[in-house]
Amino acid sequence: MDERSKTGVPGLDELLNGGLPRGGTYSILGYAGSGKTILSLAFIYNGAVKYDEPGIYILVEEDKERLLSNMKDFGWDLEGLEKEKKITILPYIRCLMGDVEASFETELMSADPSRVERLREFLTVDTLYKQIKEAVEELDAKRVVIDSMTMITLLTDNQVSGRLQVMWLIEKLRKLDVTTVVTLEEGISCWKDIPFLCDGMIYMMLKEREGIFERGLVIEKMRGTSHDTGMRPIKIRTPEGIVVYPDELIFKRGSSKD
Ligand SMILES: Nc1ncnc2c1ncn2[C@@H]1O[C@H](COP(=O)(O)OP(=O)(O)OP(=O)(O)O)[C@@H](O)[C@H]1O
Ligand SMILES: [Mg+2]
Repeated sequence: MDERSKTGVPGLDELLNGGLPRGGTYSILGYAGSGKTILSLAFIYNGAVKYDEPGIYILVEEDKERLLSNMKDFGWDLEGLEKEKKITILPYIRCLMGDVEASFETELMSADPSRVERLREFLTVDTLYKQIKEAVEELDAKRVVIDSMTMITLLTDNQVSGRLQVMWLIEKLRKLDVTTVVTLEEGISCWKDIPFLCDGMIYMMLKEREGIFERGLVIEKMRGTSHDTGMRPIKIRTPEGIVVYPDELIFKRGSSKD
């Protein structure tokens, strides 16, 4: 098996020297709307369609039906791939509801501290890991995405405990023999530790230039491999999905606008 897990995103694998080093955990960090979901989902979609590598996508907060419908714009038939058992999209919060659905919804709606405590009991890395392991074994999956880690880390007030929990999860996933991508929302304090614990980080940006937001990404960290360090422009568009321009720079040095 190739020692790289190719993203299949046009332009990105060449910046990564062939793809993400297999077996590691990588973070994708960025503000709202920067493209974290589309990039991480492209990793799962391309894995299943181009490389015969089944994948598990943990959808923490977004609505699954809406996601499936939005991605049809890119020609991604995620429902079909689920039926063929090439991918599993696991709505994390909903899959935890089970037979406690009614009470769980009450927990979510209440700011009562004791109820928030009960919510914490549901949303632990241990529960998350059990769900992932089960899904990985069922499909013999090679790729996992957790989109996003924010809710899970927010539920741990203690920074040391939170860091240990993330370390624990990363080690468990390494033993499952999968390549993992986790998304992180920039600006939320809890994300700050995670890139240090991960094997690599891709930072996605949205920057204003002359009244228009331009998209870009940069590979900030990738342990054990050389990689590109340029801020490269990206486009999200129909029908291609996400495309990276590996030979261009988003903000050229010396430009009076930068
Ligand atoms: N079909 C499409 N064509 C062009 N652009 C699109 C299309 N679908 C989504 N986008 C762009 O992608 C953005 C959403 O990207 P994505 O959901 O991956 O962001 P995100 O970083 O995950 O955001 P959040 O932090 O809110 O989850 C939209 O705001 C829009 O600008
Ligand atoms: Mg998202």
